[in-house]
Amino acid sequence: MKEELRKEWFALMQEGASGHATRFKLRGMRLAQLMRKIAPDLSEAISAGLNAAPSSLTRFAPNVVPRSDAPEVLIIEERPVLPQEPIWPDMVESNLHRLTAEWSSLSILQEAGLLPVRTVLLHGPPGVGKTLAARWVALKLGLPLATLNISATISSYLGKTGQNITQAIEYARTTPCVLFLDEFDALGKRRDDQQDVGELKRVVNVLLQAVDSWSGPSLLIAATNFEDLLDPAMLRRFELNIRFPAPARDQIVQILRALDVPSPLSTSLAPKLEGRPLSDVTRLVTQARKRALLDCMNFTTALQLCAQELQQQKSSRQARREMVRLLHADGQSAHQIARQLRTTHTTVLRDLKEIQGENHG
Ligand SMILES: Nc1ncnc2c1ncn2[C@@H]1O[C@H](COP(=O)(O)OP(=O)(O)O)[C@@H](O)[C@H]1O
Ligand SMILES: [Mg+2]
Repeated sequence: MKEELRKEWFALMQEGASGHATRFKLRGMRLAQLMRKIAPDLSEAISAGLNAAPSSLTRFAPNVVPRSDAPEVLIIEERPVLPQEPIWPDMVESNLHRLTAEWSSLSILQEAGLLPVRTVLLHGPPGVGKTLAARWVALKLGLPLATLNISATISSYLGKTGQNITQAIEYARTTPCVLFLDEFDALGKRRDDQQDVGELKRVVNVLLQAVDSWSGPSLLIAATNFEDLLDPAMLRRFELNIRFPAPARDQIVQILRALDVPSPLSTSLAPKLEGRPLSDVTRLVTQARKRALLDCMNFTTALQLCAQELQQQKSSRQARREMVRLLHADGQSAHQIARQLRTTHTTVLRDLKEIQGENHG
């Protein structure tokens, strides 16, 4: 206990010195909690002090602090950068705001014996802003984003996956951060190898337990493109589920406008982009900007041209996807489908992912 207290004190000083207000408060709360029984007066004084603390401390530490203590599988972004300001559908926005509001009002909740939402599952088709949302939340809370890509961890650490995932969880249990479990659906994927199946089962159990009894100073966010492949018990365990709907015309118009596309063009382009991931929308605008610059043409012309090309691509892609869908329904493996359609395994996997996304979108 003494050792734990000593560690917490030290960590509190570090967070204070590095100027992270939210992390400082989280640490302080933890310390106050630890001391409640052994030194109730001091515990009370810490809580009171935290409540009076300013909401933002002066930053004088550099943004990127090397984290030698972080396990190899975690990617730590000390201060996440948004590729652009997100535009959320109403339901997503209200859920995300509720989440950040709870975490920003920790002390009020804590005084009433309550805790903010600790575990969140984001689900929806690919390219609609789930990863962006995790970044956004971390940034709003002033917490580092610690990303664990489940799919990559499973494929590159076969046999050691469970151990790696446990390490990542342990890290987030002691270091305040937003622990982001991306591509969570990879857990539900069937493997061909019997040995992997056993390992995967263990990993699922480790994660089930972690989500179930999530404690400590961090917020856990998981993201998945297809919820059906997840263990149903897993879904129920998250305190908050946020569903990202397939992009609507209105949202696309707003994103185009936010990217400085003139209003009338935004409105006329949106129907052509409907049904596509939002990542296509942002990529299209970037492409058009480059093209306007390099081919010396008007930005709006370049944008229309790129949109036209995208639509043509879509038809050939759609044709292939239709075949992938058929062959998959016929029970063929991704490798077999790739061979048949003379395309790559990765392309088939991406098609399948998109098909699944559509089914659930
Ligand atoms: N709601 C949004 N508002 C603005 N841009 C978005 C939004 N959602 C996605 N994008 C664009 O698409 C890109 C990919 O989104 P991402 O968060 O990776 O999707 P997902 O994780 O759902 O697959 C983002 O980097 C951004 O450019
Ligand atoms: Mg993502």
